[in-house]
Amino acid sequence: MNIQQLIDDIAADVRPYLAQAAPADYIPALAGEDPQQFAMAVATLDGRLYATGHSDKRFSIQSISKAFMLARVLAVHGDALWQRVGKEPSGNPFNSLVQLEYEQGVPRNPFINAGALVVTDIALSQIGDSSSALRDFLREESAQPALDFDYVIAASESEHGHRNAALAHFMKSCGNLHNNVEQVLAHYFRACSLRMNVTELARAGLFLANHGASPVSGVQRLTRSQAKQINAIMLTCGTYDAAGEFAYRVGLPCKSGVGGGILAVLPGKMSIAVWSPGLDARGNSLASLEALDRFTTRSGESVF
Ligand code: DON
Repeated sequence: MNIQQLIDDIAADVRPYLAQAAPADYIPALAGEDPQQFAMAVATLDGRLYATGHSDKRFSIQSISKAFMLARVLAVHGDALWQRVGKEPSGNPFNSLVQLEYEQGVPRNPFINAGALVVTDIALSQIGDSSSALRDFLREESAQPALDFDYVIAASESEHGHRNAALAHFMKSCGNLHNNVEQVLAHYFRACSLRMNVTELARAGLFLANHGASPVSGVQRLTRSQAKQINAIMLTCGTYDAAGEFAYRVGLPCKSGVGGGILAVLPGKMSIAVWSPGLDARGNSLASLEALDRFTTRSGESVF
């Protein structure tokens, strides 16, 4: 398979979708991204890197950070995590409040916002400065020491973060947040604001494709079994109420973010990152989904 030719063709084919979607505007600092941008990168376990489009442009990884934060917490805290957060798809939007009350403040999974707030809370208790630890982890795994937070985006989200604050306060009232609510929110927003480009992101996902062993840092980040578990949760919950459609069309574990990025993992082979800021109604990048669908359909590569 000629991966470079394939992703160049895909970049051309998804162009009509770029005008059909708009960036997230509930975080005002994200709303100004030009929706005409598109980038895709593939990092393979044999050390090759392929890229097309605006692949040097860093974007806010937003909820993609949740996959890496979960990996860190699972590695440090182990299965005790699952006493405080579930691992079932929610079938609801990522920022939904409704399920949390009748399920006594235990979020359905670690990738909806409520679940990610619990994971952040555990990270704060176990690791300390959880957002800086995540930034350092991603610097190592992308071999890019200059990666950093976007404090403007973090502040913009904090200023408009009433829904996340509501989720956090409700969970605190149920006893499922142990640290100070403001502190948990600040670390969560900062982790979401991290800026990476698609090549950095594809490289950082390689440990998930390599059964937990990072070919970038040389560190065993997760056990083989934990890597399987993260990939499984990405497949079933990583794109929220669109996880069924992603499994059907893409057939890979994926984690999306409202910055327009999606990380996809093909265990044993490669990690793929796609970015285009325009979102569909469920908060996933429209052109990135189209691109991933074409990639797995044309290459015949997927977990199925
Ligand atoms: O908490 C939020 O709403 C954002 N920081 C992250 C949401 C997100 O990326 C959902 N992904 N598609």
